[in-house]
Amino acid sequence: MLLHLSTWSEVEGFLARSKTVVVPIGSNEQHGPTGLLGTDWLCPEIIAHEAQKSGDILVAPTFNIGMAQHHLGFPGTISLRPSTFIAAIGDWCRSLSAHGFEKIYFLNGHGGNVATIEAAFSELYAEASFAGKPRGFACKLKNWWELKGVLALANSQFPTGHGSHATPSEIAVTQWAYPDAIKTADYAPKIAPTGPIREAMDFRARYPDGRMGSDPAQATPEKGGELVRMAAIGLLEDVAAFSAETAPA
Ligand code: NI
Repeated sequence: MLLHLSTWSEVEGFLARSKTVVVPIGSNEQHGPTGLLGTDWLCPEIIAHEAQKSGDILVAPTFNIGMAQHHLGFPGTISLRPSTFIAAIGDWCRSLSAHGFEKIYFLNGHGGNVATIEAAFSELYAEASFAGKPRGFACKLKNWWELKGVLALANSQFPTGHGSHATPSEIAVTQWAYPDAIKTADYAPKIAPTGPIREAMDFRARYPDGRMGSDPAQATPEKGGELVRMAAIGLLEDVAAFSAETAPA
């Protein structure tokens, strides 16, 4: 069930049978010469939307702008600074919890978001802790590539040149969902360099075409479809386990 295609009364009905909501979260940032700018929010959205076709989960609108300051040297990147991102995640969670959601599951598509999302959770919990009250809801962060079986599948599909940014696995997922938007390029070097992540000018100097350690030419829509199907099954299992968690009495 997709929240943005539902009515308030349908969401009220869903709350009668589940208190869990799934929020795809990512980033709008450059992904090398062939990766779509939306790659990091499209991947969790594609997986969550696929999963809700066969499982009774509620998927919120995609939180599609994240912490991508290091990619701002490339046109099309849009970033929140960490403090803004923390504030926005907090308001999403407070909104959803006000309606009765007790488990808020973020399916993430951008490694650069992780530290800030975890900090946002800590801010939310701290409000309750300092007030000496129960929070009333729990948050969970899961990167889509950490869903059961996905990393092993990606490693078997791409034993070399997977890298860490503009990876063939994430690009394959978008190719499967948006075959009309597949791009090609002659990559030089074939496998991109690796190194640290700092500010945007430093990033562009180290990684001139935007890739990190990857050879995206290995991506195919078929491999993307395999990843999406594996991830969708893993997501339903992981959300069910999170939903079944009980708070101590
Ligand atoms: Ni990415």
